[in-house]
Amino acid sequence: MENVFQSRSKAKPTVYHLRDVIRDRASEGVTFRLRVPALQITQGEKIALIGESGCGKSTLLDMLAFIAQPSQIAAFRFRPEREDDAIDVALMWKKRQMNKLGDLRKRHIGYVMQTGGLLPYLTVRDNMSLSRSVLGLPENDTVQSLARELGIARHLDKLPETLSVGERQRVAIGRALAHEPSIVIADEPTASVDPFAAEKIMSLFIGLAEERNITVVVASHAWRHIKRLGLRRLAHHTHRSNDGRTTETVVNG
Ligand SMILES: Nc1ncnc2c1ncn2[C@@H]1O[C@H](COP(=O)(O)OP(=O)(O)OP(=O)(O)O)[C@@H](O)[C@H]1O
Ligand SMILES: [Mg+2]
Repeated sequence: MENVFQSRSKAKPTVYHLRDVIRDRASEGVTFRLRVPALQITQGEKIALIGESGCGKSTLLDMLAFIAQPSQIAAFRFRPEREDDAIDVALMWKKRQMNKLGDLRKRHIGYVMQTGGLLPYLTVRDNMSLSRSVLGLPENDTVQSLARELGIARHLDKLPETLSVGERQRVAIGRALAHEPSIVIADEPTASVDPFAAEKIMSLFIGLAEERNITVVVASHAWRHIKRLGLRRLAHHTHRSNDGRTTETVVNG
């Protein structure tokens, strides 16, 4: 019989463990609530949250990146690397340790923003290097080789505005990977390109993440091309109250 400790050490570590996490947002008398009864994401998993506009995708991703503070938390633990102990994120929010939360994000997470988020006055190379330089990581060939793999090496010395939208999205993906994070969170990374280009960029992105054993959480409207890449889809459903003043999305997975 297999030794229980042996089998435990072989198990993939849980990167995110959330239980009963809620974020409420209210504006002009209309309330939106995102509720996560239970969510577990293990190391190297590729997760997709697919849903209509306004269902709460960005809200969930922002909580996973410690950008948005949950309104209520029963448990929120984060274990970015196998050798680390699980970090009590709930306690950090409670103690308002924003710097620690920011450091965790910078070190372990790459974020591909819904709007790209490239700095217009920096070259493609400097945009991609940003995630490394804020951590004080040395300059090496990481950015160059990522740019090559993403097919944007010839654009490295240009400003983002001179690139096509699809090329800019590749730069944003490169920037999210350049500091070698263990987790990449991508919010609609292919929202502004045609379905053919979207599929190509998404499969490039997932391929790069797979090679590096990176845990990926991606939000998108379009399930069709993501399905083919073998991502695990998070279950969610949205209810609206009869008067239309309250919307709740429940995500489990
Ligand atoms: N700044 C805000 N203040 C108050 N409520 C907000 C704010 N931003 C978003 N919301 C509400 O939160 C809900 C979820 O928004 P969220 O941005 O997470 O949706 P989404 O699924 O990412 O949508 P999209 O696909 O359009 O990006 C929305 O229905 C909106 O009503
Ligand atoms: Mg969004």
